Amino acid sequence: MEAIEIIGTGSYVPPLVVNNRDLSKIVDTSDEWISSRTGIKKRRISEGENTSDLGAKAAINALKNANIEALDLDLIIVSTISPDQFMPSTACLIQDKIGAKNAVCFDISAACSGFVYGIEIATNLMNGGKYQKALVIGAEVLSKILDWKDRSTCVLFGDGAGAAILSFGPGKGILHTKLGSDSEKWESLTCKSMALENPYLKEDVIKKEKNSNLKIAMNGKDIFKFAVNIIKLCIQEILEETGYNIEDIKYVVPHQANLRIIEFAAKKLGVDVEKFYMNLSEYGNTSGASVPIALDEMNRKGLLKKGDKIILVAFGGGLTYGCSLIEW
Ligand code: ACO
Repeated sequence: MEAIEIIGTGSYVPPLVVNNRDLSKIVDTSDEWISSRTGIKKRRISEGENTSDLGAKAAINALKNANIEALDLDLIIVSTISPDQFMPSTACLIQDKIGAKNAVCFDISAACSGFVYGIEIATNLMNGGKYQKALVIGAEVLSKILDWKDRSTCVLFGDGAGAAILSFGPGKGILHTKLGSDSEKWESLTCKSMALENPYLKEDVIKKEKNSNLKIAMNGKDIFKFAVNIIKLCIQEILEETGYNIEDIKYVVPHQANLRIIEFAAKKLGVDVEKFYMNLSEYGNTSGASVPIALDEMNRKGLLKKGDKIILVAFGGGLTYGCSLIEW
């Protein structure tokens, strides 16, 4: 029986490189603080491209890598917390930009776990029999939802997009995906939307809504603890459920939030941190785009050989988490 495989990857990041020293001219920070706390050295920032522009370019690169045409796609799923607009979806905008006329398109909201959520949704829809070729994209222009006066958040994030094309093939492909959501701590990581506004609002509501923060706000310590624990738990559980050992896994591709989170998680698992692929020093945290950007970089570098087993693992706002065990 054929399984669902990743047959192509692509990514795109805006050309402007902003390093830690550049940021120290905007907020009271330093390369030393950012590097030592997070491992981040640089990030890419959009000078005008929006989320669908980045996503479309990543999609075109993935189509080339998979050697298929946009018209072959029958499903496009975009994970984003920074859509171009509320309507239409970023997936529809990307469909138009790449000419994927035959695809069903929609966005999902699972923050930094979004790409793994997208993989799970796409594989389930494909296994239902109606879809043959899916494009899953994580695309973010986080720079537009950052508070550039808040040094505790604006130094952490970057813009970018990554994409993968899923199709049926002879390999084992996507072996197992596990998702979870834990909303008890949802307030640890937020970005609010438009305030309530209508002629019938109550006075106390109007006051409250005026203070609405439309930018990313985070309790870093809560997220740190959550992330370290959930990476460990996700990896242990997916290995248990599939019958593999960590030694069978060539790479873990984690959400690229923070070097220290990944180092702590690796230590808790008793695994060499070298098994975790990281490029966060170059791009910072690009939320739902971080895993597919890393995957594409690994693919282009030739790090992934047929038969290699990898685990994608992500965590983020919601709080959400997920992991996927894939045989390349
Ligand atoms: N530059 C200089 N000083 C700073 C900066 C900055 N950019 N940001 C905060 N500080 C200061 C604070 O004001 C504070 O100063 P004070 O002691 O005088 O009050 C001091 O540094 C320590 O602040 P903390 O918040 O306690 O710093 P902490 O050691 O916890 O590190 C960090 C903060 C790096 C955010 C950490 O909590 C962390 O890694 N959290 C994980 C969050 C994360 O990675 N989120 C990514 C997004 S979420 C996601 O992707 C799921």
